[in-house]
Amino acid sequence: MFNIFKRGIDKKLLQEVDPANLPRHVGIIMDGNGRWAEKRGLPRTAGHRAGAQNLKTITEFAGQMGIPYITAYAFSTENWKRPKEEVDALMQLLLDYLRDKDQLAGKNVTIRVIGDRSALSDEINREIDVIEDYTKDRDGMVLYLAINYGGRQEIVRGVNNLCRRVQQGELEPGDVTEAMLSAEVYTRDVPEADLIIRPSGELRLSNFLLWQSAYSEFWFSDINWPDFSTKDFTQAILDYQNRNRRFGGR
Ligand code: FPP
Repeated sequence: MFNIFKRGIDKKLLQEVDPANLPRHVGIIMDGNGRWAEKRGLPRTAGHRAGAQNLKTITEFAGQMGIPYITAYAFSTENWKRPKEEVDALMQLLLDYLRDKDQLAGKNVTIRVIGDRSALSDEINREIDVIEDYTKDRDGMVLYLAINYGGRQEIVRGVNNLCRRVQQGELEPGDVTEAMLSAEVYTRDVPEADLIIRPSGELRLSNFLLWQSAYSEFWFSDINWPDFSTKDFTQAILDYQNRNRRFGGR
């Protein structure tokens, strides 16, 4: 059923995965890049580069497993507070990543970017347009890259859009529904996050997919993101499949 013969993949573990009960949307907080690098005496940027590389590996693997949507937290609305050199290095890495258009070619991955693009450089904005257009007709999985993304910013943006509709007389105050706000978030075309993975030992959401995570299952581990392997990903899926999701019912 799974045609994956990559080094380091535990095929036995993979065979335990139930293809009929896969999460439709997996959110990933790619944390621990800095610590990964520091442990090796490398600059933090080397950790981010290794993290970006690992996203390719995990995305490709998840696509082969049959997972339709991944959202990866690449740069948060709070990450601007980091030292300028680190922010610049992250922006350069993003640019290189977006320019490498065939990075996931043949893997049938559509790339979309979510977040507030107004603070990103013209160069990055141009490359986002190009890669989104270049990959738009692929019919495999979709990778959402969250860049200058914040869950609160996303909700406030949606609320403002609804306020405009009220002002234009299209909507009455008090008539706003959850479905209307769901239709305003960046991931409006995608199921809510079934599973959110955060490696590196931190146990928090850090403003990621706040609206979409109301009923998400969470999976944490101590592994730093660059070391997070296809085997770890498989384990996260298996653990997800063993959870009893009740959505508030019994
Ligand atoms: C958190 O690790 C990670 C980030 C702030 C950025 C994640 C970015 C990447 C993986 C690279 C850019 C992505 C792409 C797709 C090009 P941290 O730096 O906070 O690690 P630490 O907690 O160990 O210091």
